[in-house]
Amino acid sequence: MTEKNKPIGVFDSGVGGLTVFRELINELPKERLIYFGDTARVPYGSKSKDTVTKYSEQIVRFLMEQNVKAIVVACNTASAMALDTIEKEIDIPIIGVVKPGAHTALKMTRVGKIGVIGTEATISSEMYSKYIRSIDEKMQVIGKSCPLFCPLVEEGLWEDPVTEEIARRYLIELVDTGIDTLILGCTHYPLIKRTVQRVVGEDITLVNPAYETAVECRKLLRERDLLNEEPIRISENAFTFYVSDEAEKFRRFANSILPMGILGAKKIDIERY
Ligand code: DGL
Repeated sequence: MTEKNKPIGVFDSGVGGLTVFRELINELPKERLIYFGDTARVPYGSKSKDTVTKYSEQIVRFLMEQNVKAIVVACNTASAMALDTIEKEIDIPIIGVVKPGAHTALKMTRVGKIGVIGTEATISSEMYSKYIRSIDEKMQVIGKSCPLFCPLVEEGLWEDPVTEEIARRYLIELVDTGIDTLILGCTHYPLIKRTVQRVVGEDITLVNPAYETAVECRKLLRERDLLNEEPIRISENAFTFYVSDEAEKFRRFANSILPMGILGAKKIDIERY
């Protein structure tokens, strides 16, 4: 196996990173992908920086053992809290979701006021805000954590009046601050994009870091001359899924959002790493 046709490792605290995974499938159709979802230890969004960093380091060790050529941190919380540490520890390209999302928001805003929604950990890290303001210090970034969104998404209530009511409670104050751009700073939120858009109104541009990350990943691999050029054989399974628990539940969720059906996920003991 050459460097170029090695797989890309993708990881998240659970199922949410599949929103990034599906964008990677679209943007990088010739790549082999390995996904790890830490379903035993989810959620990361209510945990400390030390814990999220330790978990992320274990997953990176596991992915390195799978001989990946690059890693996508498909989790906003891990990107915000652990990426700075992990990127110093490995010598392959690694990309998170925060920077690509922040760059796009900077391009989209006309009034210089950007909203960010995410888990408690992502919002309290202020990583989106710090990164955006390191590029343009005139920008105002207003964060709001929306902890009920993840369970609502995992319950499948994407277009439900309950979700819409909760979105209204979370988001109206944010809209009133005058933002014109809103970053969906959590892996689950692209799945309730329509509900969020209805609540905030059409004048606010929603930024989906999952898509931006896939585009950025393609750019990064091209720059490093790591894009796979050989087509994947039909007989070969290009995608492999690993979880730390609840493989069957993961499979069902994956099949509700991925363009192709998946047969299953392998359960591994991530604490060993
Ligand atoms: N994947 C996480 C994120 O994007 C959300 C779920 C969790 O709290 O672990 O922040």
